[in-house]
Amino acid sequence: MRILVTGGAGFIGSNFVHHVLGAGDHHVTVIDKLTYAGNRASLEGLPASRLQFVHGDILDAPLVDRLVGESEAVVHFAAESHNDNSLDDPRPFVDTNIIGTFTLLEAVRRHGTRFHHISTDEVYGDLELDDPARFTESTPYNPSSPYSSTKAGSDLLVRAWVRSFGLRATLSNCSNNYGPYQHVEKFIPRQITNVLRGERPKLYGAGRNVRDWIHADDHSAAVLAILERGRLGETYLIGADGERSNREVLALILEAMGRPADEFDEVADRPGHDLRYAIDSSKLRGELGWMPRFADFSAGLAATIDWYRRNEAWWAPQKQAAEDRYRAQHTARA
Ligand code: NAD
Ligand code: DAU
Repeated sequence: MRILVTGGAGFIGSNFVHHVLGAGDHHVTVIDKLTYAGNRASLEGLPASRLQFVHGDILDAPLVDRLVGESEAVVHFAAESHNDNSLDDPRPFVDTNIIGTFTLLEAVRRHGTRFHHISTDEVYGDLELDDPARFTESTPYNPSSPYSSTKAGSDLLVRAWVRSFGLRATLSNCSNNYGPYQHVEKFIPRQITNVLRGERPKLYGAGRNVRDWIHADDHSAAVLAILERGRLGETYLIGADGERSNREVLALILEAMGRPADEFDEVADRPGHDLRYAIDSSKLRGELGWMPRFADFSAGLAATIDWYRRNEAWWAPQKQAAEDRYRAQHTARA
């Protein structure tokens, strides 16, 4: 298959490109704007005969139309992805996540191309810590942040294009990913690279918030299964039963890196901070036989820590800018 991957130089997109090129004889074209979150180095070492990189914006309709016309399927990862940034400046989130998705949908409609839309569990809002419920495909949308509301908007556009124009599309909503190539602004890499730099990790508030962690390679395998065997028009939730509080995750990082358990700072909480996410992925497992390979979170985390230790040249150029952004955001909110 010739697959167009949007946002393929980002965290999950690049993991997906590695996964797909290792899984069969697919050809991949990546379109990526290389925002602060995109990194060409994340695609190094892949077979050049089966990978084409296009530096471009998904809002560029003529370029998108040409690339979609050359592809048999589109997997759409490109997004502004960080909640903290969306609180600081929501505009790029509206542009890329909503108008960018619209631009792709119109091209896919013209060419009749198979489309898979990548989304997030955050569209469902949050759960109480003691609520036995988990998100399912029929949970009502209730997003909290500018980021999650623009993702929810993009999901609704895809659903409307399926219903109104018969688009051959599927959607997936996944929980929090971790693994190699994740930008150092995100929770797990931020704390790992802080420790590697001799800085104290930063925990928002009391760290009670729960996230449902999944390795990015398990996310990729699920997306490929949906692309190849998913039912058109359907949504699949992707999750690996990985619920942990931020405090627990930080404790595991400190222990694995040989640092004292209290060597971190509690800092100002994120405004509107979602309390808990939890995914019920029975539909994906039952229909498509998908199972996570990284079932042991501590082992996956240890491998991730090892990756950041070995790949300082990949993350070091981004670290100072990411910490400067955090400092500016905290000052602006104080
Ligand atoms: P990321 O921020 O690491 O990567 C986003 C990529 O998109 C970057 O390479 C960036 O350069 C590119 N991009 C941004 N705007 C663009 C534009 N206008 N045109 C072309 N390229 C553009 O994000 P991520 O964490 O890899 O997330 C990828 C997707 O997965 C997003 O749609 C996100 O909502 C979704 N998702 C993420 C998670 C998670 O835990 N990170 C979980 C569930 C779903
Ligand atoms: O649930 C899926 C979502 O997961 C994706 O849609 C988003 O793109 C992705 O960024 C992620 O969103 P979160 O806001 O959950 O991820 P983040 O890594 O920013 O934060 C994870 C948790 O850790 C969250 O409760 C906030 C907290 N946190 C974060 C940072 C950066 C801290 O305690 N300290 C920090 O320094």
